[in-house]
Amino acid sequence: MKGLILSGGAGTRLRPLTHTRAKQLVPIANKPVLFYGIEDMAAAGITEIAIVVGDTHQEIRDAVGTGERFGVSVTYIHQEAPLGLAHCVLIARDFLGDDCFVMYLGDNMLEQGLAGFVAQFEQQRKQDSRLATDSRALDDSQPSTDCRAGRCRAQILLAPVGNPSSFGVAEIGPDGDVVNLVEKPRDPPSNLALVGVYIFDASIHEAVRAIEPSARGELEITDAIHWLIRTGHRVDHRILEGWWIDTGKKDPLLECNRLVLDTITRQVDGMVDDTSRVEGRVVVAEGVRIVSSTVRGPVVIGAGSRIENTFIGPYTSIGANCVITDSELDHSVVLDGSHVIGINRITDSLIGQHVRVVRSPDHRSAARLLLGDHSQVEWE
Ligand code: TTP
Repeated sequence: MKGLILSGGAGTRLRPLTHTRAKQLVPIANKPVLFYGIEDMAAAGITEIAIVVGDTHQEIRDAVGTGERFGVSVTYIHQEAPLGLAHCVLIARDFLGDDCFVMYLGDNMLEQGLAGFVAQFEQQRKQDSRLATDSRALDDSQPSTDCRAGRCRAQILLAPVGNPSSFGVAEIGPDGDVVNLVEKPRDPPSNLALVGVYIFDASIHEAVRAIEPSARGELEITDAIHWLIRTGHRVDHRILEGWWIDTGKKDPLLECNRLVLDTITRQVDGMVDDTSRVEGRVVVAEGVRIVSSTVRGPVVIGAGSRIENTFIGPYTSIGANCVITDSELDHSVVLDGSHVIGINRITDSLIGQHVRVVRSPDHRSAARLLLGDHSQVEWE
């Protein structure tokens, strides 16, 4: 089993952060989203992984490298434009060969991990092979292709959702096979939405070659799976356990940060002075200085940051080398090298790298802004 992680794309929904960085490298609890996916693959025993990259390829190569530190080997496949998820399979043909593979969206996170999902597919395929062998034994005249026709060719992961009309939705037949897939249906056949994790065997290569680009100009993976079903290939499904988040927008990203911070264990390596309080599950990296402040977990603070005369409230991740002074901040993600000075109070916010949010020294009740394209500011 190989792995294919999709980390190209345009990332329009996370602008302006994605003007300067890959959305798959935005941190969740101070670790890039993409790393969780690679670790999940490694934990499922997948050691050969290709990452599809686009314009942000250099940043992703610099962050992930050869994959050695994750115990995997990583190959990079360059996609010249975001031409769709099925296009990623098309350009990964040489890497994938005829092996089965897990395809994973590099900006998605799952609570349940991949090991069980992969094991279920492999078990199903073994069972199918046994059945095929048994039926050959019963009837030697049966051509082997017929014996293999019932073999599971793909496995998709589905999650029950309240608003299926916003997703790709699957219809399941009486024997548990997927009998139809519809993209954003007005009249959904079920409440089971496609989660961004798939397993395919080599028959998907024919499917991605057979389909045409959709109205939005992309080769859609739902069309490729639909092609498999239409042409008599068996597509199996599993129901997701636990949460699943597409971190490609601000609020789901903050929610994902919250869910992951809920699982951390306390570790304080940095300096906390006598007048400060660090309460609950808080990770304070080496080289951090916390002075005259309260930090109420769950919170992570990255190496080299300085927190002074400040309250940091629950569900906050502060990156490395940040300076937060005379401020109040909660339920937010602050990326490396940013300064928040004299601000009361910041909540539900995502602040990029090397941003400065500072109170004006002349006390005039006017804001002075220098904001990048597609920035968002809300204040009373
Ligand atoms: P999406 O979030 O569906 O697309 P996007 O990255 O273009 O984002 P936006 O809608 O905000 O503009 O993509 C899911 C994942 O797949 C994400 O990690 C990017 C990746 N991807 C590719 O690698 N190649 C592609 O052609 C597409 C469409 C997505």
